[in-house]
Amino acid sequence: MNQQPIGVFDSGLGGLTAVRQLRRIMPSENIIYFGDTSRVPYGNRSRETILKYARQDMRFLRSFDLKAVVIACGTVSSNCLEQLQAENDIPVIGVVAPAVQRAAALTRSGRVGLVATRASVRSGAYERAFRTLAPAVRLFSRACPLFVPLVEEGRCRPGDAVIEQVAEEYLSELKAREIDTLVLGCTHYPLLAEVIGQVMGPEVALVDVGAESARAARTLLTERDALAERPEGAASFYTSDRAEDFERLASLFLREDVTNQTREIDISHY
Ligand code: DGL
Repeated sequence: MNQQPIGVFDSGLGGLTAVRQLRRIMPSENIIYFGDTSRVPYGNRSRETILKYARQDMRFLRSFDLKAVVIACGTVSSNCLEQLQAENDIPVIGVVAPAVQRAAALTRSGRVGLVATRASVRSGAYERAFRTLAPAVRLFSRACPLFVPLVEEGRCRPGDAVIEQVAEEYLSELKAREIDTLVLGCTHYPLLAEVIGQVMGPEVALVDVGAESARAARTLLTERDALAERPEGAASFYTSDRAEDFERLASLFLREDVTNQTREIDISHY
């Protein structure tokens, strides 16, 4: 048993999709979440900048006495996981390997798609993970840079003409590749699952990277006998920009009200 909290971070609000899953499958855990909303999106930036930001995010989270960190950001996981693991003496869990394992288990045709940020696609992390974990899979990737800003604006529902048109444009190429499984390689994208599902059709299975990283965290903590034991865990939220803005959208990602539970911090101090 280990009662210490789990730290979770993302460039913005997307990582809350992982928090939702963590709370669902490990309700006794305490969670500390940091969303770097003052610098979102990371996905169009260089690897050096992403690493610099991710190190600051980690330093902030490590100011708490944590038992593990979940990098609930596809962009950071694809570009910096190994460095962050090497620099920290607690388990650091990313989204790539868990999502690749799930996609490999789901695909029947061996034709898998990936949608993610530009920096995630450019990193080649998914190709490397498939080569190691499921070498028979053929991966077709597409960067979708407009998805994150649209989700952060709450423009993610079916019937919204803008997101529907953007999704149609990004996904038509992957559809033509006849994939049967699509990895939503960014933790913002589960909010687009309905819109993406409309375009891809019901026969294409969608893999939610946040949910897979939450499952990987549970497996790891179970193996280490480090799960918490209490009737109900608590979550606290930190953001690098306005708490009101964070909370307004957080309820959409978490599907619960988190009013007055968020604190603003200055990430440049870390
Ligand atoms: N949730 C982040 C990810 O998974 C958002 C990307 C961004 O900040 O551009 O990649």
